[in-house]
Amino acid sequence: MDSVKFNVSVTKGLLEKTPANVLVINLFEGVKIPAGATGAIDIALDGLISKFVIGKEGFDGKFGSIYVLPTYGKIAAEKVLIVGLGKNKDFNLNRLREVSEKVIKKCMKMNNAKKVISVLHGAGIGGFDPEQAARMIAEGTLTGGYAFDKYKSEKKNTKVQDFVIVDMVEENCKKAKSGIKKGKLIADAVNFAKNLANEQPAYATPTKLAEIAQSFKDLEVKVYDKNEIEKMGMGAFLGVAKGSSEPPKFIHMKYKSPTKNPTRKIALIGKGICFDSGGLDIKPPSSMLNMKDDMSAAAAVLGIMSIIKELKPNCEVHGLIAACENMPGASAYKPGDILTAKNGVTIEVDNTDAEGRLTLADALCYACDLEVDEVIDIATLTGACMVALGTVASGIMGNHQTMIDKLIKCGAAGGEKIWQMPLFEEYKESLKSDIADTKNTGSRMGGAQIAGLFLQNFVKKVRWAHIDIAGTAFIEKKGATGAGVRTLINYLMS
Ligand code: BES
Ligand code: MN
Ligand code: ZN
Repeated sequence: MDSVKFNVSVTKGLLEKTPANVLVINLFEGVKIPAGATGAIDIALDGLISKFVIGKEGFDGKFGSIYVLPTYGKIAAEKVLIVGLGKNKDFNLNRLREVSEKVIKKCMKMNNAKKVISVLHGAGIGGFDPEQAARMIAEGTLTGGYAFDKYKSEKKNTKVQDFVIVDMVEENCKKAKSGIKKGKLIADAVNFAKNLANEQPAYATPTKLAEIAQSFKDLEVKVYDKNEIEKMGMGAFLGVAKGSSEPPKFIHMKYKSPTKNPTRKIALIGKGICFDSGGLDIKPPSSMLNMKDDMSAAAAVLGIMSIIKELKPNCEVHGLIAACENMPGASAYKPGDILTAKNGVTIEVDNTDAEGRLTLADALCYACDLEVDEVIDIATLTGACMVALGTVASGIMGNHQTMIDKLIKCGAAGGEKIWQMPLFEEYKESLKSDIADTKNTGSRMGGAQIAGLFLQNFVKKVRWAHIDIAGTAFIEKKGATGAGVRTLINYLMS
């Protein structure tokens, strides 16, 4: 992956004897006399850490805080970077990932940090399994080291070339090696998703998404073109696609479990609106600005499918994307048009900017026709969800509480907050149309749920969950986050 320009590895050795530009060690909050690896370095530095950094400078190990000091040749590394792990009792694997992201970001800003070595945080006093710890360090380092600088003349990271975990115990190194492999895999999926969602819309077209899917040679991939989409009766999806000169693509990627008895069949649907102008109900400039991100969920599904052969979950997984643009071209669908979805449900277009649910409607029908056990759709679906939950948590709705609970748990384990929204039947009223089976929008109040209730019209006889990532997929100044990737990977592996 060229968006991360360094390697993460592990070697057996002594921290103080290993040459490096930067040595990363840690400090739990409130510790005055460090023990373990940090203690050893403190001694090697004649008590510089305990007496000066902690004693005089007041560095207190608060979560995510960083202190850098020179070593004046007392150890093999030129500088020591101490990262605060926060309170020992609050420390967990998510925090380790977060801290690792912060550390690498700091290193990337340093002038001389070609080679960074690090203690295996958490494996000592933290009490973590070395494999898990290494996995989180690798994952955080590789996602934190991500930079979308493809279009920058001056690249963001030219400094860090190597990140090496150093441990003197052979057994720890072995476990760390396998942990790094796992962490790298997850980071690859997350960074893959970020890359696609950060891309300019002129690049990440429906055709491009289809090409990417088709490049996954080890999966069964079928891409339906406009004629085939028409034949399948996906009138809702096609309605949205009409206003753009970019042809729509319906993408179906299939992964078969290597074991004889897969536990279940799952369909993952990612909203793939490659640009959302709003259509004829055009968005104002400030709302349209980041609408290249309206395919973030499709990018997440592609990211997952890009590593699924190596991930090897014991289930059958269908990745589905109805990819198109929502544009106000001369042949655009209009407010008042009536579209017929694949399952025959007729939809009066109330607002052309509620396009995601129309494309998802046909994708849901397609998924149900596959006779899978579970369908999870993920989408940058509603501004209302973003207003309700902000940029910290995604919303979830569905028809099966156990599945929802599990998804929320899998999110938490991956550091992704998901909050359940109800699907109150009362709100169905506002979706009623005088001339069709339903409208595509209802009242502005409860907008995230109304979208969920609309989607429910296209779900038949399967366990279904809908994750709204409108607030979490793309953050101002930070760009794409890869929202949903970790949650869904954990879910497939559970
Ligand atoms: N893609 C947007 C939702 C969105 C908004 C995503 C902000 C990310 C950030 C979606 O297609 C949309 O336009 N939704 C409308 C629906 C409305 C017309 C009922 C919205 O939320 O305003
Ligand atoms: Mn829209
Ligand atoms: Zn949209």
